[in-house]
Formats: sequence, C-alpha cells, structure tokens
Amino acid sequence: MPTQNTHPLKSIPLHLPPGILDSPSRQRRHTLPASEFRCLTPEDAPSVFEIEREAFISVSGTCPLYLDEIRHFLTLCPELSLGWFQEGRLVAFIIGSLWDEERLTQESLTLHRPGGHMAHLHVLAVHRTFRQQGKGSILLGRYLQHLGGQPAVRRAVLMCEDVLVPFYEKFGFQAVGPCAVTVGSLAFTELQCNLRRLASLRRNSGC
Ligand SMILES: CC(C)(COP(=O)(O)OP(=O)(O)OC[C@H]1O[C@@H](n2cnc3c(N)ncnc32)[C@H](O)[C@@H]1OP(=O)(O)O)[C@@H](O)C(=O)NCCC(=O)NCCS
Repeated sequence: MPTQNTHPLKSIPLHLPPGILDSPSRQRRHTLPASEFRCLTPEDAPSVFEIEREAFISVSGTCPLYLDEIRHFLTLCPELSLGWFQEGRLVAFIIGSLWDEERLTQESLTLHRPGGHMAHLHVLAVHRTFRQQGKGSILLGRYLQHLGGQPAVRRAVLMCEDVLVPFYEKFGFQAVGPCAVTVGSLAFTELQCNLRRLASLRRNSGC
C-alpha cells in the first residue's frame, strides 16, 4: 500500500512552537509559501470540509465526502489527493481513491480499492472567493499530470451534474453515460479519462 512518504508533491507544513523567538533567518524560513500544491493529509480534513460545507451542503443539503470520509481517504490514499494552498490557506482541492470496476457503483463512494487502476475523483472544489479565476482548471490539470506519474493509475473517473460535463470534457474526460450512483434526488453523468492517451497527446503537442 502506498505511503505518505512516497508523495512526489508532499511538503511538510511548518509549525512554530509558541513563544520561541526566532532569528531573522529562521523567520524567513517559516514564511508561508505564496502558492503551494501538495497532497493533503488527514490534518487538512477540517479545511477541506469547510469548503465543502459552503460549496455543496449550503446548496443541496449534502456533500460528496463528510468529515470522517475525508479523513478516511486522506489516511488510506493521500497520494490521490491534491490541495492548492495560498499563504497556508487551502483554496482548492481534489480527493480521489482507487476503483477496480468498469463503472462506478454506490460502493465506490466510500471505498478505496488499492488494486484498482482507475482513480475515482470524489470531489473537486474551489473556495467560494476564488472561483471563476481559472483555479479549478489549473488544479485539475495538475492533478491529472500527478496521476500520470503513478504507473498503476490508467484512467480517471468521476460523476458530475450535466451542467459541469463541458468543464471536464476540456480535460479529456468523456461521458460514458448516466451514473448508476444517485444521491437523494440528484442524478449524475459518469465521465472517464484515459490518462495514457492524455499523456501522449501532451507529448505530441509539446506541453
Ligand atoms: C466547479 C468548480 C470546481 C470550477 O472551478 P473554478 O475555479 O470556478 O473554474 P475555472 O475558473 O477554472 O473555470 C470556469 C469554468 O468552470 C465551469 N463552471 C464552473 N461552475 C459552473 C457551474 N455552476 N455551472 C456550469 N459551469 C460551471 C464553466 O465551464 C466555467 O467556464 P466559463 O466561465 O467560461 O463558463 C468550482 O466552481 C466549484 O468549486 N464549484 C462548487 C463545487 C462543485 O460543484 N464542484 C464540482 C463537483 S463535480
């Protein structure tokens, strides 16, 4: 099973013990990065859930992952997550896990199947104040590249409302039909993306 120590994008959060007086050089080292992409850890779960609460619960009364489920996936497969932090604050994130069937089922909402070759993107969300600035697109692009660096992962899959299908199509996802999963009265389209095809398209276009 993959461990956190193998994350190519992982960086260590900086914490200053209170009351410690730092020299100017130490203070510089503890300045939070203006912009940082890294895999998430279980400690990031509250910040993730805060964004979900506004993005989903306030709109539909439900959300893709509740706090314990966020912690569950960030413990089991943090390498399938990616967060964008600005000055230490989470502004956008994706959480994924592995799936080993051709299509999503109700079980895929809660399970991580380590032997699977398909990354299931449970949730992508951008903090309300940072939407419509290209951040969701940048993060998704980086995430797909990050997945491309994991040899076991061949495809990516997600379910979304019809209105967002064109957004995902821009990244090489293709609709494969109505998703078998429903949440309350909400229905979703299932989309899949062939990561190898995407990588070869990137190579051919020189990106
Ligand atoms: C969907 C989301 C991740 C997009 O991130 P973003 O940073 O706002 O998106 P970008 O600025 O990179 O791109 C904007 C594009 O997103 C798409 N988009 C975003 N929200 C949309 C919505 N509610 N309806 C339709 N299209 C939408 C459009 O294609 C838009 O392009 P346009 O402005 O040219 O029409 C973000 O709006 C969000 O967090 N929404 C709430 C949570 C959510 O719905 N997540 C998706 C779950 S599948």
